[in-house]
Amino acid sequence: MHIVSKPVARPLTPSQRAERTTSTAFGSAFTEHLVSVRWSEERGWHEAELRPYEPLVLDPATVGLHYGQAVFEGLKAFRSHTGSVGVFRPDAHARRMRASARRLMMPEPPEELFLAAVDALVAQDQQWIPDDPAISLYLRPLLFASERTLALRPAREYRFLLMAFVTEGYFGPAQRPVRVQVTETYSRAAAGGTGGAKCAGNYAGSLLPQAEAQEQGFDQVVWLDPVERRWVEELGGMNLFFVYGSGRDARLVTPPLSGSLLAGVTRDALLRLAPALGVPAAEEPMSLEEWRRGCAGGELTEVFACGTAARITPVGEVGSADGTWTIGDGTTGEVTTRLSDALFGIQRGELPDRWSWMRPVAPAPQPAGT
Ligand SMILES: Cc1ncc(COP(=O)(O)O)c(C=O)c1O
Repeated sequence: MHIVSKPVARPLTPSQRAERTTSTAFGSAFTEHLVSVRWSEERGWHEAELRPYEPLVLDPATVGLHYGQAVFEGLKAFRSHTGSVGVFRPDAHARRMRASARRLMMPEPPEELFLAAVDALVAQDQQWIPDDPAISLYLRPLLFASERTLALRPAREYRFLLMAFVTEGYFGPAQRPVRVQVTETYSRAAAGGTGGAKCAGNYAGSLLPQAEAQEQGFDQVVWLDPVERRWVEELGGMNLFFVYGSGRDARLVTPPLSGSLLAGVTRDALLRLAPALGVPAAEEPMSLEEWRRGCAGGELTEVFACGTAARITPVGEVGSADGTWTIGDGTTGEVTTRLSDALFGIQRGELPDRWSWMRPVAPAPQPAGT
């Protein structure tokens, strides 16, 4: 689908951009453009355009605001060491957005539309990505029900938006080991529910448990399965990996996709990348008891979380109702570092992209002097 380009007449100068990106805290330094596409029952996808980033005017009865018919994605564009820009696995994010939309009875944005939007925005705003390897461009596709109605039925009009902001890792520049707290009070999702979809409501429901964990000095919440409260599922908005053994004997385990977990694109990448580095990786259920026992006995040597925003984040310490324990010596482990370097090496174009994960995007022509 063709995206009509209507960029700002006078883009910000490099020094104005630098001023706008003095803080790269997650979700704050937005670029100058967005892509907007409408969908209606009569016209399907239409009015696809790239235009200046600006506030929306919404009717108070915009149904997506009331009943939560809203799904989103999160993916990143990186500047390589040669200066070119590539987006990490946009096709996988497009497919996940389609699956999320299907679960919430929304029209599924075609993969070509999703990719055309990513290409248009990253081409236009890629000068916002500095050379600093710690900084990347986070792309946020959003699809919400935009019909003016409060009827409780699938809406008949939707809006797809793609915006972008400049950011460091979710936990700041250095991926320091995080302290995590297992919640035995709250659940993120249930099998048969919407946990496998990236829908807005899942994130609203996680805010209170997250705030309570932070009040007690932890960084993130570990979600257990909602039935037995025994099996480890995810960490906040990230997937979890467990490392057994070390050196040549190291192997990885991550919980299987039970329906209530989000199928992370980073998780999927690591399940392929790790074996290529000589670290076998399997999807196996992990109980809280096994986590604790494995750390106490020394078999379980490292744990890390992964996601687009958080990249690879080591877990140093776990708090639960039955006490607190340290993983390894509480610092970033060797396997975690190796995987993180390998993934980042591909994203930065420093290592061969054996699975064709990076989608190169050339810059759009810019007016002189910008
Ligand atoms: C609940 C949840 N789990 C896991 C992930 C990691 O997914 P990805 O690697 O695709 O960013 C995310 C982030 O999108 C998430 O929100």
